[in-house]
Amino acid sequence: MSSNGDSAPRSVENAHALVLAAAKDMLRKGLTEGTAGNISARLPNGNIVITPSSVDYDLMTLDDLVIIDLDGKTVTGDRGPSSEKALHIACYKAFPDVGSVIHAHPVFATMFAVAHQNIPACIDEFSIYCGGEVAVTDYAMSGTDGVGDNAVAVMNGRSAALLANHGTVAVGANPGKALHVTALIERSAQIVWGAKALGPIHELPEKVNQQFAGIYSYLRQNPM
Ligand code: 13P
Repeated sequence: MSSNGDSAPRSVENAHALVLAAAKDMLRKGLTEGTAGNISARLPNGNIVITPSSVDYDLMTLDDLVIIDLDGKTVTGDRGPSSEKALHIACYKAFPDVGSVIHAHPVFATMFAVAHQNIPACIDEFSIYCGGEVAVTDYAMSGTDGVGDNAVAVMNGRSAALLANHGTVAVGANPGKALHVTALIERSAQIVWGAKALGPIHELPEKVNQQFAGIYSYLRQNPM
């Protein structure tokens, strides 16, 4: 992702389609349940297209998506925007290169979020795409500004955070990449949880982690 934000979807129509497709994929992949979670993308003019609050993903259509500005005000849309719009806005404001934000409720990652345990960097692809260990935030109640403030506080050099007692947040150049990070932290959480049941776990050597952090930074600045 470049620092001027040109990784964001190129057109309003394209951004809407990518957000809707990722929302349906998030449910299909079991990364959330019911109407939980939310997805957004940054538009070329700086506004944000975001999923509506409490609409079934199976029934959601392009017309249900809402455009908001960076103050959280609705620009267009008949629905109310996601109740976590402040989390999304906090990520876009803190990380100008980010083109999409996904909040999900995946089971294994949320187990770590409830235990207030970071997901350690044990797997190569996890470090390459997440930037290293993914940290748990301080607790803040769903829908409050604190959720976003606490998330960006632990996301420097990372593409995700575990929201304490709640779920996950992931960022990427576009909704597909943010969904990939969401699925990867869930898969990694499941692997680490299972490995811990087998015995002591072994994290990646620090030197390797630093090399992967370099690849992570390169990929983030140069999304493919
Ligand atoms: P919305 O349906 O308002 O997006 O909220 C879902 C959610 O996951 C709240 O944390």
